[in-house]
Amino acid sequence: MDDTNSRQGRGFTLWFTGLSGAGKTTISEIVERELREKFGKVVVLDGDIVRTNLSKGLTFSREDRDTNVLRIGFVADLLTRNGVGVIVSAISPFKEARDQVRHQIGDDFIEIFVDAPLEVCADRDVKGLYKKAFSGEIAQFTGVSDPYETPAAPELHIHTDQEEPQESARRVVERLEELGYLSRVAEYNRA
Ligand code: ADX
Repeated sequence: MDDTNSRQGRGFTLWFTGLSGAGKTTISEIVERELREKFGKVVVLDGDIVRTNLSKGLTFSREDRDTNVLRIGFVADLLTRNGVGVIVSAISPFKEARDQVRHQIGDDFIEIFVDAPLEVCADRDVKGLYKKAFSGEIAQFTGVSDPYETPAAPELHIHTDQEEPQESARRVVERLEELGYLSRVAEYNRA
């Protein structure tokens, strides 16, 4: 990784990975609002939405999930190279596919593990899908009947059962500041 505070104007990909209901979309929406003010060019790629267009028709088999993740990664890479701040929110359960995207994007790939115990996600059951997953109505449901491979070394690990989304989002933006993607108030003052 290169020096911090040397990446102003460069694009980045914030890659939120974690179980359904862990809080990826909630946190990324707050981060998006903040980055629109601090960074400008921001694009959001959310798995739920991507699956209605770019990845329409894909199933939740391992192969299709990997295809979905690699497609999102392809777009994120193009945007990142062109100075856009990309926010990805997708379960992206398989390490190999995530690492492939990491390799493609390089230093500007920032993996954020949005972590909450399965029981907490299932209790929240925002979309009512866990109920169906436990009853068997939905097969191959991540965390219930399909694997989620935990990131080994994410740039940021967020425990959404232990802090509010606002606090998690603040830590994400702080990390971007630390990495030098955002201009800091102090630097404006010095200029
Ligand atoms: S990924 O595995 O390919 O990365 P993605 O993030 O695009 O998944 O989509 C996950 C969303 O699809 C979940 O938030 C949930 O709303 C819905 N979904 C439907 N079926 C499943 C399933 N079998 N496993 C996980 N999520 C599912």
